[in-house]
Amino acid sequence: MEKIQAALAKARAARGAGAAAPARGTKGAAAGGGYAGPAAAFAGVSATSAAWSSLRAFRPAPEVFLRNHLIEDGDRREATTFDVMRTRLLQAIRTNGWRRVAITSPSPACGKTTISLNLGLSLARQPELRVILVEADLRRPSMVRMLGLPETAPVSAVLSGEAEFGDCALRLADNLAVATNPAGLRNSAEILGQPHAATALERMETVYAPTVTLFDMPPMMTGDDVMAFVDKVDAVLLVAAAEATTIKQIDLCERELAAQTNVMGVVVNKCRFLDPADGYAYGYGS
Ligand SMILES: Nc1ncnc2c1ncn2[C@@H]1O[C@H](COP(=O)(O)OP(=O)(O)OP(=O)(O)O)[C@@H](O)[C@H]1O
Ligand SMILES: [Mg+2]
Repeated sequence: MEKIQAALAKARAARGAGAAAPARGTKGAAAGGGYAGPAAAFAGVSATSAAWSSLRAFRPAPEVFLRNHLIEDGDRREATTFDVMRTRLLQAIRTNGWRRVAITSPSPACGKTTISLNLGLSLARQPELRVILVEADLRRPSMVRMLGLPETAPVSAVLSGEAEFGDCALRLADNLAVATNPAGLRNSAEILGQPHAATALERMETVYAPTVTLFDMPPMMTGDDVMAFVDKVDAVLLVAAAEATTIKQIDLCERELAAQTNVMGVVVNKCRFLDPADGYAYGYGS
């Protein structure tokens, strides 16, 4: 894994990377708006709590977690990896006032959905956080199947302004909501790229005030969905599969993303062959 990180560092140095990409407007902690006083602040908090309480609760069956490498129990050894990732992510979003993070990879099956869900579960183990997980792989959505979710309004309809977020989202925990699409769509890039998608996300953030929203995206090399959506997120986490993703692919994707947004880091997944002591292992670098 060190070899991968060293090769990445070399590729970045060769292209002179390192400067921060333009941020998506002024959002989050950095956003203004003035101080409205304690009464207004309290009203805001209780409205947010009421909005979360009104989301339909759904608890996936225990075997769903086991079958899909999802770690719900924070005491398990494997949870540590995601808790480290969570800490890094929280540091980055707090430092930069970010609120939206997309997760993508160069090629398919690198583990994006598994990592998005595990990161969401890890974040939600901190009760003071509110986390929203959005299925943004609208071409080949997988979360409904993976988690055995019941039918809801599709997130594509929320992004198009035809449905409310509350009719789509399911509450997996008190502070973790998931918004998915039951079926794949051919016009996914148009849905993700439409200007109304930005309005829908702002509306969702006003009502539910998530600490962070994670977008589980498709791979970059199979279409233009990621590039169509990337102007609506603050940062991107790139997932690479050890022994499958090449340094060249990571470099190319990182370069393309860095021209549009902030690349938070590269997670090297499926590293069990590189580091047998860790078993189910991940590596994180930025
Ligand atoms: N660290 C890991 N070790 C072993 N298997 C893993 C690991 N991470 C993911 N997998 C498995 O790899 C397969 C692909 O994972 P996942 O669906 O999360 O990838 P993806 O990048 O979202 O795929 P797609 O590009 O199709 O959306 C799944 O069967 C998943 O359980
Ligand atoms: Mg996926």
